[in-house]
Amino acid sequence: MLALALETSCDDTGAAVVDSQGRVHSSVIESSIDQHRAYGGVVPELAGRAHLVTVQPVVARALEEAGLDPHHPAIDVVAATAGPGLVGSLLIGLSAAKSYALAWGLPFVAVHHLDGHLFAPLLETPDVAWPLLTLLVSGGHSMLVLVEAPGRYRVLGETIDDAAGEAYDKVARWLGLAYPGGPEIDRRASHGDPAALRLPVSMANETLDFSFSGLKTAVVRASERHPDVSLDDVAASFQRAVVEQLLRKVTQALEREGARSLALAGGVAANSALRAAMLALGEDRDVPVYLPSRAMCTDNAAMIGAAGLHRFAESGASPLDTPARPTWELVAP
Ligand code: KG4
Ligand code: ZN
Repeated sequence: MLALALETSCDDTGAAVVDSQGRVHSSVIESSIDQHRAYGGVVPELAGRAHLVTVQPVVARALEEAGLDPHHPAIDVVAATAGPGLVGSLLIGLSAAKSYALAWGLPFVAVHHLDGHLFAPLLETPDVAWPLLTLLVSGGHSMLVLVEAPGRYRVLGETIDDAAGEAYDKVARWLGLAYPGGPEIDRRASHGDPAALRLPVSMANETLDFSFSGLKTAVVRASERHPDVSLDDVAASFQRAVVEQLLRKVTQALEREGARSLALAGGVAANSALRAAMLALGEDRDVPVYLPSRAMCTDNAAMIGAAGLHRFAESGASPLDTPARPTWELVAP
């Protein structure tokens, strides 16, 4: 089966063609990030307007790159992110996907954005050792998920305040670095000394939840006390504290749940220190670690296609009046 998938939950307009064997035939991303940089964060209205302009050309490119006829593509299902995310952005991709499905007489499938992120490591890994423990860290979410089988989730822990990516973006903004701050801090940190600032590692308790808002305040206070410490050193110290907290929780969960493999997902999974630390943990505990390529970590439509095909096989099509859901639990409470 072949799916056309659309992803427009935030600032990236994504379209992809994916098959049920997990092969990505095309994956196109158009970002409106340049329009948001001056504001230090994504401006929802600007993001929605940008999706409106780019969604149709991005879909046309995805079909063309997959070698399909743009007017009568030989696909079986149209999938789109229905939430969580910015409502104005979600509505553009969702409405476009429903329109394509209706025009081509194809089934439509609504996809949870995090379901997509959790499918990303599976797309590039043929034989997964289940259960898989996935650390999902993005700009909007931070959670530890036990993936019992494709699409079967148990959320073990979540952030109690900011998401990891949000912490990166906030600290970067305070340091005067460009938005989004994650890649910028990652780059700076590679030239800095992670021991330059002494920062607390939050949530040194038994829960598998995370917390990042106190760390941001600690960075500001420590930097003010030590104005001589360079920007690269601040970035490296902050990054070490983030990675240490994340890895501590992954280790606790691995010991408690007995997962047979580890994976990273979400935009922060592109972080070089986090990737290195996960690989080292896997080596130490003798469990395989699946690291999606950087393009598969950040928002893209290929992961939405993979999740959509799975949902379609499991529960069939979604109704065409499926609403956009700006807030949506991954697992029903
Ligand atoms: O998953 P994503 O593309 O969008 C959602 O939030 O759903 O994640 C974006 C987040 C941003 O906060 C960005 O700063 C962060 O991922 N990010 C990184 C890196 N690349 C992207 N954070 C740390 N290191 C990176 N290399
Ligand atoms: Zn995302």
